[in-house]
Order: sequence, then structure tokens, then C-alpha cells
Amino acid sequence: MTDSLGVAAPTDWWRSAVIYQIYPRSFADSNGDGVGDLPGITHRLDALADLGVDAIWLSPFYRSPQRDAGYDVADFCDVDPLFGTLEDFDALTARAHDLGMRVVVDIVPNHTSSDHAWFQAALAAGPGSPERARYIFREGTGESGELPPNNWESVFGGDAWTRVTEPDGTPGQWYLHLFDSSQPDLEWTNEGVRADFDDTLRFWLDRGVDGFRVDVAHGLVKEDGLPDYTPEQLDASSLDSETSSPHFAQEGVHEIWRRWHDVVAAYGPDRILVAEAWVHPLERMADWVRPDEMHQAFNFGYLMAAWDVAELRRIIDDSLATFGAVGAPSTWVLSNHDVVRHATRLALTEPNPQGHGLATDSAGLPDVEHGILRARAATLLMLALPGGAYLYQGEELGLPEALDIPGDARQDPTWARTNGERLGRDGCRVPIPWEADAPAYGFGPSASTWLPQPADWAPYARDAQRGIAGSSLDMYRSALALRKRHGLGTGTLTWIEAPDGVLMLDNDGVRVVANISGADLPLADLGGEVLLASRPLGDVLPADATVWLSHA
Ligand code: NOJ
Repeated sequence: MTDSLGVAAPTDWWRSAVIYQIYPRSFADSNGDGVGDLPGITHRLDALADLGVDAIWLSPFYRSPQRDAGYDVADFCDVDPLFGTLEDFDALTARAHDLGMRVVVDIVPNHTSSDHAWFQAALAAGPGSPERARYIFREGTGESGELPPNNWESVFGGDAWTRVTEPDGTPGQWYLHLFDSSQPDLEWTNEGVRADFDDTLRFWLDRGVDGFRVDVAHGLVKEDGLPDYTPEQLDASSLDSETSSPHFAQEGVHEIWRRWHDVVAAYGPDRILVAEAWVHPLERMADWVRPDEMHQAFNFGYLMAAWDVAELRRIIDDSLATFGAVGAPSTWVLSNHDVVRHATRLALTEPNPQGHGLATDSAGLPDVEHGILRARAATLLMLALPGGAYLYQGEELGLPEALDIPGDARQDPTWARTNGERLGRDGCRVPIPWEADAPAYGFGPSASTWLPQPADWAPYARDAQRGIAGSSLDMYRSALALRKRHGLGTGTLTWIEAPDGVLMLDNDGVRVVANISGADLPLADLGGEVLLASRPLGDVLPADATVWLSHA
């Protein structure tokens, strides 16, 4: 049996892989409508092979009314015409495989779009019907059911319940939506729902995908009785404590992941499941990657860690130990389509809760150049760690968060649902620049883009950085090549004693020094030959810089 890349003995490729997240709306547009699409991605795949990533992960491109940028799926087994066709998907997969890259797709099991045929059937069929049993419909409270069944809030702001009008025209039941009202939650105790998702997995596995990134993998099962709950604000300090909520991290989800594990394993050991599970502490998250469940989980504790020696060292140690204890690799991630880009986030001087976004007048914004230097230092530290790493499109270009997005251009449902109190996630989703001198910076053949691009992005364009020593793109390319050459993803980490404010580690012959202190470090004190640095070095390793040194 050969795997998707024609490798005779399938390997645990994912244990050390660098997986690049493509956000299809914003990667490359082939038809000039201002929204990225699958042919656009295929056309630009060479650039990712050139970068040196092992796999791509595609955020949703399925049929969807796009109320949550495609995380509101109306048909799990078809491509939305906005993005192309199933044939376009097959062409993309074939091209990626030819270039030696695996393909991971998103799957969104917690909810469907309200346009999904199941939800439309549930609305039409009325209370007590088998169609309604696929979702979480309940009677309201109050004298005539005019109040929601409980006090749960949507992750995007506002109530997590919406009342429907019954087929006879009367005000009726309420349905649960942990996200937007256009994303009704599925009832996962329903065997019809479970069996249908088994088929969806097989549909994409049969088309050759190498795995699934599982959306809201901590959701799906809700506590019996749906008790009231008042959430705590999630920040870095709360990641140590275990909180229990009636809609996240319920024990019942694990049975579903064991079932999915079996579906995927039937296609060979090289197909994977990756959990998007906002669960803390790490010991709890590790339950998602036990040997008979998923293969990897995003390490959001790492993503949320500040640029601080003690915090970083602790989360790195805890991650390696905790995931290692269940036989799973750790993963590392700094940016994705839900958080402020790390070129801006890591140098903020004010807290930035997830989903809050930033604008030009936000408090605590860093100087752009400083933010990028710090981000590059953080990236070089991350890419030296053993385990799998995730990159988010545009970070290799050093893109900062886009701050200047007018309210009427904002599309994240969070913005409307909180009446502008939370800006949402649009700032990290702006179409990326390819060519400095082309309309829309070469994103597509027209000047149109679904979110406005900043006027000063020409220097970030890929063609302005390719082959330029010291550019962000050049640093990422070199890092991925060296990481592979030295086997850092499968290596072993040893901490080395270092001055205050400095992280120093060895990983299989490479010494990594991250200077988080405010002071310069003489390079002569570090020994070894410089393999790669996050910024040009003279005699010292300056603050906010990381260097890789050869170390016998
Ligand atoms: C997590 C996804 O990453 C996010 O973009 C989406 O809005 C929610 N899940 C709901 O599907």
C-alpha cells in the first residue's frame, strides 16, 4: 500500500510536519470577483512548495451562505460556486500531492448553516419531529415561551438561542446556536447525525484528502438538561485552571472521536484528525489526542503565551510532557484566522481577548517594525521545537494585522452581533499580497478584494521578498529547510542555562537562543556558527531576536 504521496511505507509524517493554513477567501482569486478560490490556490501552490511546507490545511470551501466565512456549511459534500467545483478541488489535491504536499481539509461538525436541507426540513416539520431531533430545539421559558430556554451566550455575542415561527405561523420553539444564529447546533446523540458525518469523512477521504482539521472539537455534546452558565473570560492566566461548562469539553465527545478515528484509520495510518479544541489546562486537552482519538490538537496555550521567558519555557515544557504522556506530538502555532496576527499581537501593550480585533485607534498598538522583529524572533523559536508546527497564510510575509477596516466593510458576525463593541477577526483575514506592483497586490486579476487591503502592503508582497536575503520570506524558507535538514521536528529539546531574559536550548545539534531581555547579548559568548537569525546580526544578538547556531 502506498500513501497519498506514493510513499511505500506510510509514515507518521504529521508528528513533525509544518502545515500551512490556507484561508481560501483570501489566498488567491482566479476570476476577479474579489474572493479567493480553489483554482487560485492551485495556481499558487508552487510558492508553498518553494517555501518548503509539508502540508496545506484548507479552511472551509463548502456550499455555504458565507455568514461566518464558510464555517456555516449548507452542504458538506460540495464546493461552493464562489470557490469553484469538485473538479477544481480534485485538481488542487492532485497538484499538491505532485508537489509533495499533503492536503488537510476543515470539517465543521458542531453546527450546520441554517440553509442546510436538514435545518430547513426541521423548521418545516415542526416540534417533536425526527427532523427537529437532529438539532437542539427547546420550548422557551416565561409565561408563553417568550424567553430563551437558558442563559447561554453565543461565542460571537448575544443570545445563543433564536425563536422560530412554526409552520402554522405562531411563535414557536427556540434552537441553540453557540455561534451565529445562522449556525444551528447539531444534536450529536442522534445516530442519523453521526452516520451522516461518517459518510462525509469517507467522501473526502475517497477524494484523497490526508486529514481533517475538526472545528469546535470541544463542542458537539452538551450537558443533560442544558443548565444555565455564566462564562469566564479566557485569557492566558485562566489557561492553567480547569473550568467546566455545559457546552464545551463534555466527556461524551470522546466517544465521537474514537468513532472518527476508526473511520479515518481504515484509510491507512497516514490520514489524520486535528482538534480545534479550546480546552484547558493542557492535561485536559491531551485527552483529545489519546492513541484512539485524534492525532494532533492545536496548542492554543502556546499561541496565547506572551513573549516572556518564564511563560514560554513553561508552556513548552508542559506541552512536550503532557502530549508526550499520551504518545502524541506537541504542536505549535502563533497565528490563524481567528486571532490577531502575531506580528502585531506579540508586541501589544494592552490585553487583546480573542475576537476583539484591533483598529487604528486601539490602545497599546506596537510600532509596526518592532512587531515584525518580535514576530520573526518568535517564529524562529517555534520552528526549532520538536513536534508539528502550523503557519497561517501571510505570516511568512511578515504581515501585521490590518487595522484600517471601516465598520461597513467588516464581515465577521461578531462585529454586528456586538454592535461594534468587538471588532471581530477581519483584520487577520485580508487578502494577501503576491505582487508589489499589481492591482490588489496580485491577489487576483482585478482590483477587487472582499476586505480592503492596506495601502502600504507593497513591501510585504511575495515578489518583493523572494530571493531577498534577510526578508521575512527568506527567513521562513531557510528555517523550514534547516528544520528538515537537522530533523528538528523529530528532535529532542534540552534547555541550556542562560542569562536572565534569554531562552537557550539545544535540539539535535542546533543551539537556539531567543533574546527576550532588553539587552544585547555578545555573539561571541554563545559559541557555534550562525545558521540563521531572525534579523541581521553584528557582534551581538539584540533584544527581540532569535538565532540558530550549529552546535556539535
Ligand atoms: C472555529 C473557527 O476557527 C472559526 O473561524 C469559526 O467562526 C467557529 N469555529 C465556528 O465554526
